[in-house]
Amino acid sequence: MNLFDAIRARRSIKDFTPRPVSREQIEQLLEAAVQAPNHRLTEPWRFYVLGAQARRAYGAALGARKAKRAEDPAAAAEVIRKVEEKHAALPAMLAVSVVLAQDPEVREEDLAATYMAVQNLLLAAPALGLGTHLKTGAIMQDPRARAAVGVPEAERIIAIVELGEPAAQPAAKARKPAPALTTWVP
Ligand SMILES: Cc1cc2nc3c(=O)[nH]c(=O)nc-3n(C[C@H](O)[C@H](O)[C@H](O)COP(=O)(O)O)c2cc1C
Repeated sequence: MNLFDAIRARRSIKDFTPRPVSREQIEQLLEAAVQAPNHRLTEPWRFYVLGAQARRAYGAALGARKAKRAEDPAAAAEVIRKVEEKHAALPAMLAVSVVLAQDPEVREEDLAATYMAVQNLLLAAPALGLGTHLKTGAIMQDPRARAAVGVPEAERIIAIVELGEPAAQPAAKARKPAPALTTWVP
């Protein structure tokens, strides 16, 4: 698959088959990730490959946040159980963090570079027959979620990547054509 095809074919995958993702596959994807452009070569990205126990703990933290909207304690417990189970059952899940630089300019560049690393991983995954779903949100700064990942104080989680063999290929979501968003400045 050439790169243009891979870019066009990439979709956020919501459902995965139970087929496991191997350590070698994850290592290959992370090798692609660390080739991202990176001003000053700060190599600010860190990757946490979560095992079933850590995924369950992350799911429990996310579930507890979602459960705040539940009507009663039984419904809340059911929400937590479901989110926990869903995360524990994922074929693979990564947390990506950035090491927080002191200098605000470097911090911004490092954030951009780390997202580029994530994009490398997302675009490389289909070459191994894998799909991805990038997730973010306030959960990433939740102390329980951070503890589940084991991320140190000096890092900020910036992306969660769910990974596995796609159960189905979702339809593409419409995008505005690039010319509608482009100004050719003379
Ligand atoms: C920075 C970023 C954060 C995202 N966070 C979430 C998220 O928290 N939950 C989610 O379901 N999807 C998340 N997504 C995925 C987008 O919803 C998805 O890319 C969008 O709907 C377009 O669909 P596609 O990826 O299949 O083209 C995120 C994507 C990006 C780039």
